[in-house]
Amino acid sequence: MKIIVTKTYEELSRKAANLFASQLILKPNSVIGLATGSSPIGMYQELIRIYNAGDIDFEEVVSFNLDEYIGLSPDNEQSYHYFMEQNLFSHINLRPENIHIPSGIALDMEVAAKTYDKMIEEAGGIDIQVLGIGNNGHIGFNEPDVKFEARTHIVELEQDTIEANARFFNAIEEVPTKAISMGIKNIMQSRKIVLVATGEGKAKAVQGMIEGPITPELPASVLQLHPDVTIILDEAAASLLSK
Ligand code: F6R
Repeated sequence: MKIIVTKTYEELSRKAANLFASQLILKPNSVIGLATGSSPIGMYQELIRIYNAGDIDFEEVVSFNLDEYIGLSPDNEQSYHYFMEQNLFSHINLRPENIHIPSGIALDMEVAAKTYDKMIEEAGGIDIQVLGIGNNGHIGFNEPDVKFEARTHIVELEQDTIEANARFFNAIEEVPTKAISMGIKNIMQSRKIVLVATGEGKAKAVQGMIEGPITPELPASVLQLHPDVTIILDEAAASLLSK
């Protein structure tokens, strides 16, 4: 694990965006794995800036998002489809047919999950994946559990996660209780992983991820086994690390 601690969110975002940008410069037809939530927003803004400066191009890029709430249609403002459109896709030249986000409204969610895995496989796997981390140590929506879920699956969200994500909704009752998420194997098979985390609220999960035992009770701890992970933290998120 490479660990980088930055002074500000802006610096963290620039560093994460630069890792993505160098991937796209070296391999213009990269398959990129994307996350939602507040952590990668600055990185997306920086990628848009680099794109506008003419240094990267998304023409040949294929993207796969980690997850989506079950029950929210793409035009729902709280959906991850909507989030991605607002924060990244509407600003760059990624082709709509190359964008993949799990469906939250498929008639058969099990089939949708299997199809998603197949699409990732057919695209040749993910070259670079950005992750955030939940206060409870989740990555994607892989919640603390007694076992790791390998593939894309349906998740019952933890109360912790519902409370943390309520900030994006009008009321906590509006937060969906289920999601569809890539599994741990999907994430671990990405050739490169960049995880970004900021703020004191993440410090305990970050410490467990880096210094704790590898356990499905703190899903991000599995990243210790990945050969190419870069973790970019601000000082608050890094504050409980022993060195
Ligand atoms: C989002 C996702 C989640 C978030 C995590 C942190 O697609 O998969 O794992 O990365 O919940 O969220 P923020 O960044 O809002 O603190």
